[in-house]
Amino acid sequence: MSSRTTTICFTNNKGGSGKSTTCSNIGAAMARAGKKVLMVDGDMQLNLSLSFFSEEWVLEQAAGEKNLYRAIREQKDLTDFIVRTPYENLDLIPSSTLMSSIEYELFTKWQREFILKKCLQKIKDAGTYDYILIDAPPTLGGWVMNILCASDWVVVPVEASPWGMFGLANMFDFLSEVRQITPELEVAGIVVTKVDTRKNYFKQTMETLRELEDIHLFETYIRVDSSVEWAQDNSIPVVEYKKSSRSAKEYTELAEEVMKRVSR
Ligand SMILES: Nc1ncnc2c1ncn2[C@@H]1O[C@H](COP(=O)(O)OP(=O)(O)O)[C@@H](O)[C@H]1O
Ligand SMILES: [Mg+2]
Repeated sequence: MSSRTTTICFTNNKGGSGKSTTCSNIGAAMARAGKKVLMVDGDMQLNLSLSFFSEEWVLEQAAGEKNLYRAIREQKDLTDFIVRTPYENLDLIPSSTLMSSIEYELFTKWQREFILKKCLQKIKDAGTYDYILIDAPPTLGGWVMNILCASDWVVVPVEASPWGMFGLANMFDFLSEVRQITPELEVAGIVVTKVDTRKNYFKQTMETLRELEDIHLFETYIRVDSSVEWAQDNSIPVVEYKKSSRSAKEYTELAEEVMKRVSR
């Protein structure tokens, strides 16, 4: 058993950039590769939770006591909030729609940037998991700051579109600010998602990103694939739903690339 748990978050203030899809499928692919993985749904939209469980279950969990919102609000050890997914090696801490008020809740708290980190500390110390993956909401406030402060690495999924590129500068400015309070945080890199390889714009996007200094670009990119949507409709990650699909292969390769990148 590994005694070192690596925490990776998926952030980008642009919604629809593929954070939740990337987080869920990298998690599922890592678990398939025999790693022990805990995923944390940090978004009130519950998309990470919905990637593994039915709408009914997710909403019930969101309204109940055992979700991330309750734990953060009461600053509890997150060990007691872990649920098993239907897949081996893959666990989840579900979210709640009440996360919408988390910024307000955090505001008066002592050391408010580090609450999630503290709530995860026992799980990290136990060393049960190889990876903790945190899915972030499409914002750049105090809660995302918490997610970044709880992480060793950040992966930034970017949609291969003009507006996908537009928000990036803001995102990286925010990351440099966060690194001032948590210098151990490292940017694993950018992963380009929802790619249509027939479009020249995609090639230009890859070239632009490759030229960025000091920011790693993952070689594996994720193409648009309707299997992703069918899988999500069935609350199954695509790497489990349709193993032969193009996106299942891409996410599996990306997971390998991410594991290699964060192992240094
Ligand atoms: N590779 C893909 N192929 C097709 N649709 C995708 C793919 N990746 C994401 N999507 C779709 O794009 C939308 C946004 O993805 P999501 O992961 O929810 O982004 P975010 O979490 O950044 O808001 C979702 O409806 C999802 O189904
Ligand atoms: Mg999301």
